[in-house]
Amino acid sequence: MCNHYFARCGSVTLMFVLGAGGLLPAPAVEPVTVAKAADTASQAETTGPVSGYAFLQKETQQMQDDDFLNPGMQWVEAGKEMFNTLQGENGKTCAACHGEDGSKLDPKRIAQYPVYSETLGKPVTLQNQVNACWTKRMGYHPLPYDTEGAIKLEVFVQNLARGEKVNVQTDGPMRPYYEKGRTIYQTRVGQLDMACSVCHDSNAGKKIRGNTLSQGQVNGYPAYRLQHGAVAGLHTTFNECYRLFRASEMPLGNDDYTALEVYVTARGNGLTIETPAVRF
Ligand code: HEC
Ligand code: HEC
Repeated sequence: MCNHYFARCGSVTLMFVLGAGGLLPAPAVEPVTVAKAADTASQAETTGPVSGYAFLQKETQQMQDDDFLNPGMQWVEAGKEMFNTLQGENGKTCAACHGEDGSKLDPKRIAQYPVYSETLGKPVTLQNQVNACWTKRMGYHPLPYDTEGAIKLEVFVQNLARGEKVNVQTDGPMRPYYEKGRTIYQTRVGQLDMACSVCHDSNAGKKIRGNTLSQGQVNGYPAYRLQHGAVAGLHTTFNECYRLFRASEMPLGNDDYTALEVYVTARGNGLTIETPAVRF
């Protein structure tokens, strides 16, 4: 799919991401150099994580900062409404167990997601957890990953942790998933033989038309996406990036995407949660 988020489509995008089109500041980055990106220290590791917010134009920052202007807040409100009022087969609202407006949920805990689930023996994303309560504790049919209802609930819960620091566990049982996510992040795939790290580590900070390539941090997710006119989930954004470099998308919510989420979120440990961020 072609869209303005990524400035151009397919190989044309890469031409200027990689500098061949002369749109990057000199010296142009040669594809050959970029090929070694995964081996070199990542930009996020050398300069520390930087929120996508810092790469936005001023007007977009202002839109995010003001709750009345930030269109993502309507999704938070819709999620809150669902949280307080919707009852499943079991006759329970989310609020019945977690307090009105989620008052009994711990923002510091929310900031740790994805977390390791002893019961499942693998990490769960915040959306997995919300969906588990939705089905098991309330008796609803599962909400397909990243669909509107799931996103509304997730963005509401994640917004409770706005202002907290991202704090994902990377040792203990989470270690293998973190490593797996990093491998996915650094593995070149697709017709254009690209990896996430090529754009978001090695080339972060470079201009793509009016926009700047960010580190691809996720401390604002789920985020209001101007080009969608909706709040979008993280896995949906992963798919968009894969499409951008013509690699196969993965099913939303699958284990590889969960591992990728573990790595990508932990890579931003210490960043302040901004949900709902406003992004292109
Ligand atoms: C019948 C009680 C009940 C209902 C209803 C319920 N939950 Fe839960 N929820 C729990 C319990 C118990 C846990 C602890 C983790 C577990 O065992 O799943 C939990 C965990 C969570 C967590 C993770 C908190 C943490 O500390 O890690 C979130 C977020 C959450 N629920 C959101 C929701 C949302 C959103 C809804 C409504 C769709 C909901 N819950 C409905 C009982 C409930
Ligand atoms: C060809 C370059 C390119 C590649 C490769 C790429 N992306 Fe992106 N990505 C972008 C652009 C352009 C944007 C939008 C502007 C920005 O935030 O950088 C973006 C945005 C994002 C964002 C949103 C950041 C925010 O602050 O809202 C995330 C998360 C992300 N990418 C993750 C990934 C992951 C994971 C991969 C690997 C599957 C990947 N990207 C591969 C170009 C790329």
